Amino acid sequence: MVYVRKHTEDIFEEMRRMAGNERDFQMIKEKAEEWTREAGGYIKEQMKLTFKVNTKSHQHDLVTDVDKGVEAFFQEKIDKEFPGHRLMGEEGSFENVKDLSGTVWILDPIDGTVNFVHQESYFAISAGVFHNGEPVIGIVYDVMHDELFSSLKGKGAELNNRRLSPLSENSLNEAIISFNTGWLLKDRRLERIVKRSRGTRSYGAAALEIAYVAAGRLDAYISFNLAPWDIAGGYALLQEVGGKATNYDGKTLNFLEKTTLIAANPWVYDEIIEVLNTNTN
Ligand code: IPD
Ligand code: CA
Ligand code: CA
Repeated sequence: MVYVRKHTEDIFEEMRRMAGNERDFQMIKEKAEEWTREAGGYIKEQMKLTFKVNTKSHQHDLVTDVDKGVEAFFQEKIDKEFPGHRLMGEEGSFENVKDLSGTVWILDPIDGTVNFVHQESYFAISAGVFHNGEPVIGIVYDVMHDELFSSLKGKGAELNNRRLSPLSENSLNEAIISFNTGWLLKDRRLERIVKRSRGTRSYGAAALEIAYVAAGRLDAYISFNLAPWDIAGGYALLQEVGGKATNYDGKTLNFLEKTTLIAANPWVYDEIIEVLNTNTN
């Protein structure tokens, strides 16, 4: 009898804890959306001025003062509002994060910096808020088109507050696939995907391309060289619409290292894997 009462109390305690977590994460998502829009405004202001462009790992890997400004902005906001959270941002703060315990914001302050510098469009702010290694909140903001994709675990994904539908059945011959055309040089089997699909696109901003998969605008996005901050926000969105994302070998993603990626509508994902692994053209 005593055991049953204790067990019931434990269940209620767990339910109260979960309800509390849900409210907390709802509030964190609202903050993340507010800060992201504010950072988008900052980026637009900076675009009217001149800013420094530098290279990082190679001559096509660009970073600007604006990327750094956005990361510093998030660091300041998170430290003030949520001092227990950690930031893993592309422009330096990642160096302090070696595991995903607790609450970690995985941030790409500007995803698509080459587009930002050369085209002044098709770049995004991307953030995935992870709790003990699990994605809870997803944010991908296309600054120039004012499109804010966001999600909360178990509560669905939205585009500018309009609910995104769960992904529906599709086949490769009616699918639009996105990847950097350079990847054809890395794996010629991708030619089979090109031939069988309805068409291909290449936007040059991984986070945006994963968000487009979540919104059903694309049916798959493939890459051979991404970092956790390219994927985290879009991955959280995808979970909420029934999308599938693994590395190119079909393995679970690791958000602590560089990786390959297939992010797709689940039916198209299965076909892509099948076509890649079939020995005919
Ligand atoms: C890059 C973009 C690009 C992808 C690269 C990323 P960055 O991010 O997402 O589309 O092909 O692998 O590094 O450097 O502009 O944040
Ligand atoms: Ca990026
Ligand atoms: Ca970036």
